[in-house]
Amino acid sequence: MNDVKTLIESIKNPETGNTLHSENRIKELKVEENALTLVYDREGISPLQKRQIEDIIYNELSGKVDEDNIVIKTVSKDSSDVLAKSEKTAKPKSEQPANLKVGHGSIPKKKKIDTIKNIIAISSGKGGVGKSTVSVNLAYALHRKGKKVGLLDADIYGPSIPMLLGKRDAKPLANDDKKIMPVEVEGVKFISFGLFIGEKDPVIWRGPMLGGVLNQFLFDVDWGELDYLLIDLPPGTGDVQLSMIQAVEMAGVIGVSTPQDVALLDSTKGLKMFEQVKTPILGTIENMSYFVPDDMPEKKYHIFGNGGVKKASESLGLEFLGEVPLEIALRESCDQGVPYMSNQNNEGKPVWNAYLSIANKLTGEDNKKGFFNRILGK
Ligand SMILES: Nc1ncnc2c1ncn2[C@@H]1O[C@H](COP(=O)(O)OP(=O)(O)OP(=O)(O)O)[C@@H](O)[C@H]1O
Ligand SMILES: [Mg+2]
Repeated sequence: MNDVKTLIESIKNPETGNTLHSENRIKELKVEENALTLVYDREGISPLQKRQIEDIIYNELSGKVDEDNIVIKTVSKDSSDVLAKSEKTAKPKSEQPANLKVGHGSIPKKKKIDTIKNIIAISSGKGGVGKSTVSVNLAYALHRKGKKVGLLDADIYGPSIPMLLGKRDAKPLANDDKKIMPVEVEGVKFISFGLFIGEKDPVIWRGPMLGGVLNQFLFDVDWGELDYLLIDLPPGTGDVQLSMIQAVEMAGVIGVSTPQDVALLDSTKGLKMFEQVKTPILGTIENMSYFVPDDMPEKKYHIFGNGGVKKASESLGLEFLGEVPLEIALRESCDQGVPYMSNQNNEGKPVWNAYLSIANKLTGEDNKKGFFNRILGK
């Protein structure tokens, strides 16, 4: 195991380019048969660089030491995070710049949920583009195709799935194993923060606590066997999204954009974040693509321009999954809490066909290139 020790000692501080060893940062290094404990001084190392260092360690040790047996801890001069500091009632030294220290401890490794075949997050660069509507209706489109589907509302600041499913008053129960039972609506299981708080309660919880809630939604909900778990992410890029995609092994992400917001697709607020954390981008959906009046079905109005997301996706090398037109019945179904795709009366309408076609692409039935079969391991 000497080589593991040498390896750890040779890891560099990205800030200075010197090894952690030469900077006297390694405070404890215990290498045992298939186990490693490392405590290092992260003073002056940013959270991002800390992540880089620990990523390198995990990568280098893969195959040598079991991931579950790697424990990495950090210390710093003024030690500990904000919470711990307040607990110890430590006072900042006078005339020292105040700073926040975050992220002590090891990076949790992505966990797998054995009973769920594919976890797919639905994301967008900004709010109001129809992410929740897409999540709900894609869930029902997949359900129509005989798939077992779950829906996780990760939008803890503005949870809208209970409303979209007409279940604002549902209260999830716990089973004998103390796991949360998801609420089932027309064959699709869902969970949402909205079921645990009053609609008018202000959400003043701090990010880390909310991260904990999402971890519970992933790991402490009795999802049972699922073919797909769709996650409705909050808009943009932030802690919530990051902690979620780093907590669990996902099949990948679908980006939703409207034609007028296409510039955001590839932006730092859009899909870039997922590439940076090595989460595959399964494809893109253009929502509110065009409008077909009920009384003039032969007409197609491209209100916000034509084909923008498709073009942008092609130029970014992303799979384009399809366009969902604007339809009054879709908006009404959201307001009434009856999912459009769960209502047979909508069969054959443009939006209905659009969702079925996207679902076909995901399940690999409309998939000449075999792209999703490859990605989703069918
Ligand atoms: N294709 C569509 N046709 C008609 N109305 C639509 C369509 N897609 C979404 N809507 C409507 O647009 C509004 C916003 O949609 P939705 O709440 O799904 O967006 P979101 O991206 O989840 O928003 P937020 O960022 O607030 O979570 C809703 O009123 C919804 O009914
Ligand atoms: Mg939403």
